[in-house]
Amino acid sequence: LSSKFVKIVEVGPRDGLQNEKSVIPAETKIEFINRLSDTGLSVVEATSFVSPKWVPQMGDATKVITSIKKNKNINYPCLTPNLKGLDAAIDAGVKEVAVFLAASDSFSKKNINCTVEESFDRVRPLITKAKEHGILVRGYVSCVVGCPYEGPISPRKVAEVSKKLYDMGCYEISLGDTIGVGTPGTFHELLQAVSQVVPVKALAVHCHDTYGQALANIHCALEMGVRVVDSSMAGLGGCPYAPGASGNVATEDVVYMLQGMHYDTGVDLKKAIETGNWISERLGRANGSKAARALTLK
Ligand code: HMG
Ligand code: MG
Repeated sequence: LSSKFVKIVEVGPRDGLQNEKSVIPAETKIEFINRLSDTGLSVVEATSFVSPKWVPQMGDATKVITSIKKNKNINYPCLTPNLKGLDAAIDAGVKEVAVFLAASDSFSKKNINCTVEESFDRVRPLITKAKEHGILVRGYVSCVVGCPYEGPISPRKVAEVSKKLYDMGCYEISLGDTIGVGTPGTFHELLQAVSQVVPVKALAVHCHDTYGQALANIHCALEMGVRVVDSSMAGLGGCPYAPGASGNVATEDVVYMLQGMHYDTGVDLKKAIETGNWISERLGRANGSKAARALTLK
């Protein structure tokens, strides 16, 4: 792949929907993923095998992942917090999973009920077992700039957690600005620290857009050599355990910016906008992407 290729990891069906209060029918999620598969994306994060007591919206993970029309050129990773989740994912035929840790103990306890240190003990056997089954493992680090409970997080801490996760066998580390507080200033410091210990080619950025900084932060990451960007159609998203956090950066906006910078994403912007408008209508809200709104009015 050319250095002008940027891989977009669409997280709409998972991050985008996990925080929705009313239960979305599995059929809607399945159709959403099928539509996303037709836009040219190469990665569509499909669902989470988490405890339904913690995140009821993802309780239909098996149904969703086994019912979608799978395109052999697309990866459909699923979140797995523990061995129970991995076992369910294996039973459902999942080929790629994602583990999720944090750079902050307080968030870790609220989100997965253990400290950061304990979370490594939890994911170590998970990664080993996944590899035995030929399953790829992606790693998320949350709160890479700030924590909703602890405030600012040091780049040094994020680098330490990212390196440990990478060394354990995650092929890609996605840096999550869970509450969207980062700026190009803090992202520059963050990426400088992390890229010293994890190859920049193995890094992704995952920007929530709470403060309207996501595109600027992604631009900073691109300048620093990052070529993997997480985003969510129509800007859906949020974490139930990150109060006040808004949606992810909108995929349509990311594609629009990357096209303007002559990056190749493989994504058809028109089809992306149609899909974003479709899911927004289903959820009864306006499309959160500015590019989609502007181009839909035309
Ligand atoms: P716990 O309560 O400590 O776990 O939760 P437990 O082992 O005591 O289990 C409690 C109950 O859940 C038991 O059921 C288990 O069987 C069941 P009971 O015996 O009471 O009937 N259970 C499960 N069921 C299905 N699948 C499973 C599973 N595990 C346990 N995998 C646990 C610990 C990790 C399970 C819980 O805290 C959890 O599921 N947390 C997930 C929270 C979550 O999904 N957050 C959002 C995703 S992370 C995110 O959004 C950030 C990200 O986008 C990046 C960023 O933006 O920064 C990735
Ligand atoms: Mg997120």
